[in-house]
Amino acid sequence: MKLLFLNGPNLNMLGQREPEIYGHITLAEIEVKVRERAAELGAEVEFRQSNLEGELVAWVQQAKGRFDVIVLNAAAYTHTSIALRDAIGATGVPTIEIHLSNTQAREKFRHKSLIAPVCRGQIAGFGANSYVLAVEAAVNVNEK
Ligand code: DQA
Repeated sequence: MKLLFLNGPNLNMLGQREPEIYGHITLAEIEVKVRERAAELGAEVEFRQSNLEGELVAWVQQAKGRFDVIVLNAAAYTHTSIALRDAIGATGVPTIEIHLSNTQAREKFRHKSLIAPVCRGQIAGFGANSYVLAVEAAVNVNEK
């Protein structure tokens, strides 16, 4: 099983960025945790980050036929990007929405996710562990 982890804007700043919200862990350290859990579960991982909406859209489009599941932390684009939502709908690759923070417990503008209706489910609020939980959800994505 091949998992594509996509990370949106400002997630390259993890470690320095608002540590009271996101902790001190870097994206590279999260990637190590994801790879460890994926290896235990026999899954392959591709792990990418972009600050550009169009690049994320292109990666979602290209996932069709290449990856079994997309795990997407769209960051701020979660709340704004119809383009990303349409790309997920267009590819039909099962997609899991994740967040480090509990977006429902934060500012009102973070309560709305434009991508949620086209995702299989959401994992939010567990810090770096949201990513590890997403590996487990991804490998079981077709189970009810
Ligand atoms: C985030 C939550 C978003 O609201 C925010 O814009 C981010 C990070 C999270 O992982 O908690 O950049 O996706």
